[in-house]
Amino acid sequence: MAARTRIKQGLLQTLVHQLCHSSSYYSASVVARSGASATRVSSSAAAPASSSASSTLGSSIQSEKTVVEAAQAVEPKAALERSKLLVLGGNGFVGTHACQEALSRHLPVVSMSRSGRPAATVHDDPWINNVTWVRGDIFHPERWKDTIPLEEVSAVISCVGGFGSDEQMLKINGEANIAAINAASKSGVKRFVFISALDYGLPSFVLRGYYKGKKSAEEELLRKFPYGGVILRPGFIHGNRQVGSLKIPLSAIGAPLEMLLKNAKPASRLPLVGNFLMPPVKVTSVARAAVRSAIDNAVPPGVLDVWSIKRLGDH
Ligand SMILES: NC(=O)c1ccc[n+]([C@@H]2O[C@H](COP(=O)([O-])OP(=O)(O)OC[C@H]3O[C@@H](n4cnc5c(N)ncnc54)[C@H](OP(=O)(O)O)[C@@H]3O)[C@@H](O)[C@H]2O)c1
Repeated sequence: MAARTRIKQGLLQTLVHQLCHSSSYYSASVVARSGASATRVSSSAAAPASSSASSTLGSSIQSEKTVVEAAQAVEPKAALERSKLLVLGGNGFVGTHACQEALSRHLPVVSMSRSGRPAATVHDDPWINNVTWVRGDIFHPERWKDTIPLEEVSAVISCVGGFGSDEQMLKINGEANIAAINAASKSGVKRFVFISALDYGLPSFVLRGYYKGKKSAEEELLRKFPYGGVILRPGFIHGNRQVGSLKIPLSAIGAPLEMLLKNAKPASRLPLVGNFLMPPVKVTSVARAAVRSAIDNAVPPGVLDVWSIKRLGDH
């Protein structure tokens, strides 16, 4: 009888031992994947690494050698997800359309601009509530980087640009975007899409700061994002442009012109006059091409001219 009991106890101990060891593989792999710390293990002798494992199964197993004190489950720590799309200048003409395009693809969208959320009286469409609007000046990434954790951003689309004096144009088209490119690059953002502009080859004194600024930002982008930097160079962009409470229907001119020039690709390659024969593009096409460039690794880094924007954005 005593011998039988000893055999039973022996079997039980072997079973407990097996359980401890077989669960160690499970735990080690979870810990390795999650990077979470293992639960605390105390032991009369030095605790074998495997003993922490049993704790992950939620059991409190005691044996002569090992005591597992904390029987808490090791939750796989959520990997830092880069899922957000950051639209710089998301409340502007191109920016609002880029935000809508991204939302239609169920992407979480954050927009940053100095004025933040568009006034309700101006844009009262429901999509506005689905964007996270952040107020910030692109020149001061150190201020908005805390509000927008760039570590969670997978791609940036910059729609920031503008007109003014030569100095102002150089600043907003060039320096502002360079600051954003550098902040994004430092934070490990994978793709950066820059809405630049077609250079019509105007005399150098016309819009000098504008084109110089765009060019310097383009160069910085290709340097900092050699594998994920996409530059869009549209000419005239048409659609409904909101100015205050007014909607300006730029398509009244843009759409017929686009239709007229849509087959002018060979002529658009002519020196000097060629760029004037580039068709205007719909704002929705620019937005679609920008979002696709931001999320699709199949879009190669480099420049998308008007024809490429249409090819990517029209369908
Ligand atoms: N529209 C066209 O026909 C056309 C053609 C070719 C190229 N592009 C280029 O496409 C881009 C978008 O054009 P768009 O017509 O959409 O321009 P837009 O309507 O004037 O939008 C510019 C955006 O930039 C934001 N912004 C300006 N300064 C900023 C700053 N310091 N910090 C943060 N945000 C700032 C503005 O918002 P806040 O004022 O609230 O800051 C606004 O959201 C521009 O780079 C433009 O050069 C446009």
